[in-house]
Amino acid sequence: MSSVKDKIDLNHIPKHVAIIMDGNGRWAKSRGEERTFGHKNAISAVRNAINACNEIHIPYLTLYTFSSENWSRPDEEVSTLMNLLSETLILEAEEIFTKGLRLHIIGDIEKLPALVRDQLMHVADLTKDNTGGNLILALSYGSRQEILQAVKRISTKVKNGEITEEDIDEKLFEDHLYTRDFPPVDLMIRTSGEVRISNFLLWQMAYAEMQFLDILWPDFTKDSFFQCIVDYQCKERRYGKTSEQLGSGL
Ligand code: IPE
Ligand code: IPE
Ligand code: MG
Repeated sequence: MSSVKDKIDLNHIPKHVAIIMDGNGRWAKSRGEERTFGHKNAISAVRNAINACNEIHIPYLTLYTFSSENWSRPDEEVSTLMNLLSETLILEAEEIFTKGLRLHIIGDIEKLPALVRDQLMHVADLTKDNTGGNLILALSYGSRQEILQAVKRISTKVKNGEITEEDIDEKLFEDHLYTRDFPPVDLMIRTSGEVRISNFLLWQMAYAEMQFLDILWPDFTKDSFFQCIVDYQCKERRYGKTSEQLGSGL
């Protein structure tokens, strides 16, 4: 019997997949548990996504782990999430390293507890020479804030005479985003049935394919991921052109 993975065309793998890992709270509530139970049960789904990516050699995976808006959740939930992040990093650091993955963090990390920030920086540094794939965690991340800080830094450079207004183009702008070293997102996946972007990678997803799954994040399996890739490969990415143009190789 052929598996979902066998249906994937390994010659047309997306370069960059980004995931909004949503639905932990509802997963827990549906079992009569506290929301934090859902977060604890989300770790295996994170592992599934990372392993699936690794198996089919997707070079960039970005996981929306904690948004700038998530700071407004109840203190207890925020601290559970921070502790979980710290514990998981300690447990998974070796695995990330042996898989050859390089860890990157994007977001306003100054807001994170110092301990968590130090651990993240430590693992990022430890893995900086790895070339087997890039695991990007969006933490304390908000796309509007990212765009605003880019605008401010560019304005300062213009004011100081380091660049002129004419130098400002898409490439220069991208160089001021947290994602400057990564390609644009090819495929965005969101679990939980919500059809929204929630302030995630607005610029970087300008031409991404989007898939909204009805499953809740803790139920996300490797096959869920592989199925998303199969569906992605059925799309024709036209970038404004016509099908005929693409068919004629233009
Ligand atoms: C996603 O699950 C995890 C984070 C946002 C940190 P939620 O906690 O948002 O779960 P729902 O959407 O309330 O079910
Ligand atoms: C988006 O999920 C953020 C993460 C998955 C980290 P939310 O659950 O916070 O998004 P909204 O509030 O439903 O839009
Ligand atoms: Mg949610």
